[in-house]
Amino acid sequence: MLFDNRIAELRAELTRHNQLYYQDAAPEVSDAEYDRLFRELEDLEKANPDLYDPNSPTQRVGGAPLDAFEQREHLLPMLSIDDLFADGEVAEFFKRLQKGLSLESIPLTVEPKIDGVACSLVYRDGALDYALTRGDGTRGDDISQNVRTIQSLPLTLENAPTLLEVRGEIFMPSEGFAKLNEQREEDGLDTFANPRNATTGTLKSLDPKVVANRPLAFLAHGIGAHEGTEMETEDDFRKLLEQFQIPRNSPVWHVSTLEEVLAAIRELDVQRHDLGHGTDGAVIKVLDFSQRETLGFTSRAPRWAAAFKYPPEQKETLLKDITIQVGRTGVLTPVAELDPVFVSGTTVARATLHNQEEIERKDVRIGDTVVVEKAGEIIPSVVQVVLAKRPADAQPYDLPSVLNHQCPSCKAPIEKADGFVAWRCVNFECPAQAVTAITHFAGRKALDLDGLGESVAIKLVESKLASSPLDLFSLTVEDLGGLMLDPAKSADGLTKSKERRFGAKRAATLVNSLERARHEMPLSRWLFAMGISQIGESAARELARLHEKLSDLPDSPIVSDLADLPDFEELQKSKRKKEHHPRLKDYKIDDNLGPVAAQNLRAFFQSEAGQTVLTKLSELGIDPQSDNYAPDPEAASEGLPLVGKTFVITGTLSQPRPEFKKIIEANGGKVSGSVSSKTDYLLSGEGGGSKKTKAESLGVPVIDEEGLQALIS
Ligand code: IVH
Repeated sequence: MLFDNRIAELRAELTRHNQLYYQDAAPEVSDAEYDRLFRELEDLEKANPDLYDPNSPTQRVGGAPLDAFEQREHLLPMLSIDDLFADGEVAEFFKRLQKGLSLESIPLTVEPKIDGVACSLVYRDGALDYALTRGDGTRGDDISQNVRTIQSLPLTLENAPTLLEVRGEIFMPSEGFAKLNEQREEDGLDTFANPRNATTGTLKSLDPKVVANRPLAFLAHGIGAHEGTEMETEDDFRKLLEQFQIPRNSPVWHVSTLEEVLAAIRELDVQRHDLGHGTDGAVIKVLDFSQRETLGFTSRAPRWAAAFKYPPEQKETLLKDITIQVGRTGVLTPVAELDPVFVSGTTVARATLHNQEEIERKDVRIGDTVVVEKAGEIIPSVVQVVLAKRPADAQPYDLPSVLNHQCPSCKAPIEKADGFVAWRCVNFECPAQAVTAITHFAGRKALDLDGLGESVAIKLVESKLASSPLDLFSLTVEDLGGLMLDPAKSADGLTKSKERRFGAKRAATLVNSLERARHEMPLSRWLFAMGISQIGESAARELARLHEKLSDLPDSPIVSDLADLPDFEELQKSKRKKEHHPRLKDYKIDDNLGPVAAQNLRAFFQSEAGQTVLTKLSELGIDPQSDNYAPDPEAASEGLPLVGKTFVITGTLSQPRPEFKKIIEANGGKVSGSVSSKTDYLLSGEGGGSKKTKAESLGVPVIDEEGLQALIS
């Protein structure tokens, strides 16, 4: 009770700051102050689970994953819209309107057709009640959890009508889409073909944390069901959106003759390339709601609206060469070098070919004439080859052989991990990767080197003071103190101060934290810091549990057995996993460390680059020790009440599921994602859904929070 007021106050305050930051781009408080308020609210909410509110600002970072989307009926059907492909068809549409309304001139709007995913937001009494996809038009998926992560959308409305259904489009802005794909390319993951696919893929995620990290946005374009508010025209609706700061689609043309409609469509075609998101047409709508009613609907679409579809612009051009880019994490990306052509508003001279598989799928060869377009009107892409124009001597392209199996930057051998599409240079010391490698090495979760962020790493590499992470250990306070950094930007972002020196004080702090890394940082941190593909924090920790010190790893039988596991599977189809391996089974290796990670680790230590790292480390006298060495997990967790027990968690509990996972694991138990005959207990909160049904049918005991408490004590 005591905290009601403070919680309400913090929610209102954070909502206001969100609005200022994301909508008005005029923040009033620093990030640190915002974080402080946010944490205070998080703590209070954790301590008072009965005051849970799905529209609290804390819910925007994503809660627990769902088992499946629930379906819900739309308040009004979500219809489709008729497409028009030529000026003549626009004229016919206009004539139908004139006839239907017995009017010569008709007030209409023309606005962009956003290339995204349709969504209906239902606000009741000023709070977002739920959000649905279009589905089959009658029923949609409840994607409320995912929609709440869209920061520019208000979750609460002040002085709102009792019911307001806003319809619009969820999409990924061009810039965010480009960054996401760049990151995925760097990570060796498949890229999304266009922003629309990226949006669909993201919204399908059952884990709102994934969604919260993707740059989704929403723009409203239509009114659905509503009660407690009078609206006569589309303009009234747009005013209401403005009042509630719900982002609205724009620009909008107000027109009333056929000539004006066609002119607006043409103008929009020029402007749409600068909107910052994909558009594929112009939507024409009757402005006045009573006129809409007169015109009515066909079975599939309203008679008062239509969409003019712009043809995707495609051009043919010559593919002069394929070059290779070494990404900051070593991913090798083939790039098409094109004879420059003008497509959808810009000149295109290069287009990513993504990876070798993509090249093979499209059978792209140097010297080919190719068709180029902008995916989602944004990213240049090679659509297909014009086979009729292929020169007789065009050879298929094979990335590894063209590169002679060497990284074009450092000449180290290149590799492609099973299950990945990208070839990569795995040389920890590759100069093309130096900045990322150093930044990662210094990161908070790695060796936590004070004052060494990306901008300092860039300068260290540029000034040739360091070309790989281990070079850092040879730097002196004098070397570092004299390092010149870029000028700091002032608050208005325009005026710049002079270049700054890194300075003796920061240099001394950094050298101190390097000393701490050398002597005190545990093996798990070091393994993570090395940035070996697939060795994330959890895998590094599991490796450190199984090994006493770094120098034990290059010849580790555990790593070797684990890396060979796929062969072992071949031999003993019936007993496939590490749980059954004659030597590995005793170690009870957890899911964070699998054969692919082990193969990468082994490849790293066997490579020339890995050998160099080992030599350098021994020259520097560094051999990081494990701080969680416990190869026999039974012994380590002996005496803990849940040892050997596997749990599955479902339903709505008093705290998020990861909290319960922590409690179970801290008591020696394991948590798995799905119910099987091997499950010992199902911990179920309210609801419980299909997992509960399955547990009951398998005779797996279903317990609640109290039951868990009883098992532990
Ligand atoms: S108005 C009754 N306006 O396009 C339908 N729709 O192909 C009235 N869309 O389902 C729709 N941008 O999700 C309208 N500015 C816009 C739009 C738009 C995109 C989508 C919408 C609709 C689909 C129809």
